[in-house]
Amino acid sequence: MLSNATPAYLTGFGGHFATEAVPGALPQGRNSPQRPAFGLYAEQLSGTAFTMARHENRRSWLYRLRPTADHRPFEHYGGAPRFKADAGAEPLAPNRLRWDPLPEPAPGTDFVDGLTTAMFNRAPFELEGVAVHLYAANRDMGGRVFFSADGELLILPQSGRLDLMTEFGRLEVAPGQVALVPRGVRFRVALPDGAARGYVAENYGAPFRLPDLGPIGANGLANPRDFETPMAAFEDRDEPTEVIQKFGGELWVTTLDHSPLDVVAWHGNLAPWRYDLATFNAIGTVSFDHPDPSIFTVLTSPSSVHGRANVDFVIFPPRWMVGEDTFRPPWFHRNVMSECMGLLTGEYDAKAEGFSPGGLSLHNLMAGHGPDVDTWRKASEAELKPVKIGGTMAFMIESCWPFQVTAEALGRAQSDYDLAWADFPKARLP
Ligand SMILES: [Fe+2]
Repeated sequence: MLSNATPAYLTGFGGHFATEAVPGALPQGRNSPQRPAFGLYAEQLSGTAFTMARHENRRSWLYRLRPTADHRPFEHYGGAPRFKADAGAEPLAPNRLRWDPLPEPAPGTDFVDGLTTAMFNRAPFELEGVAVHLYAANRDMGGRVFFSADGELLILPQSGRLDLMTEFGRLEVAPGQVALVPRGVRFRVALPDGAARGYVAENYGAPFRLPDLGPIGANGLANPRDFETPMAAFEDRDEPTEVIQKFGGELWVTTLDHSPLDVVAWHGNLAPWRYDLATFNAIGTVSFDHPDPSIFTVLTSPSSVHGRANVDFVIFPPRWMVGEDTFRPPWFHRNVMSECMGLLTGEYDAKAEGFSPGGLSLHNLMAGHGPDVDTWRKASEAELKPVKIGGTMAFMIESCWPFQVTAEALGRAQSDYDLAWADFPKARLP
């Protein structure tokens, strides 16, 4: 199968897949035969340490036209000027922050050059933490591919479809869907709609997994069968190809004389996937109060402390609100975890205005936040009949590590976000 064919998918999360684009390309019964079929090169890609417990171990075997090792030295890449975790010199004030969508990118901006880092915590070489980037692009990557050695990339389109040609095969991703590209996997982004915008969470830590379900049982939230991994598809193209790599927070580039998206067959449980957020089985109260937002966790990357996530990916999808004698929007709270939020479509039920699709907000640990005044007033006075919250999809990148904000993002933050919580009337004691 070549890259212009219709993508085909295998279903399941973290399953052990086997796929070949040319019959006979995938070795049977062993990973590294003395002479792989057709002179292909066998190569292992490790997503976890070799010795990780079996249920956490992720790796795949790739059978390709040329080994990845065949390249000249990487040199500093001069593009993508805003794709950098640069906090500036001043300490970050403990203020709540919110942003409007990115301005229009300059003509000729591709996915990589159109990435803008907004916030981050820890550092790539610590193998913990997460960075949150926005992208705005209006050109295909053409003869370029990208990969991050610093983390896996959770890509969340907000507008415009993405066509991801990866080493493992091809993925079409539309707004409403998300995609994951594992650490180290090369890919190219084409824009079928001519332009695209969205978010990228770059997870430096343990690979995302599905959360445990505890008393919920064996089903619910994100179900494994709804994750789609591409079948093998490759390019046989002997043309100059720029490979841009993110490594240690910096961007590096080298030029190959061929496309590295040349994996003819692969097998294993480390691979890209896409997931339609509409298939998330949202669970909530049928009595009173609403559960903590952890009930909306799609994926989690654990830290070394049990139950405390390096990163959680959480969504606020369409759902029924039926709680009796309950303040139904998110309550006022202060959290030991730090919360980065984005909006993919519609409105978010805790804010009446100021938070647009493509926007972003940050509530670092211990920042008091919750509904704005208008939302609080309406929800306090509303008649409590069943209500469907529809046409919305907000998400949260929640981390145990407080976020730093890039100097660029700090300069673009809304100046009046605090006013969302101004003028609450004082409670009246008897
Ligand atoms: Fe919050």
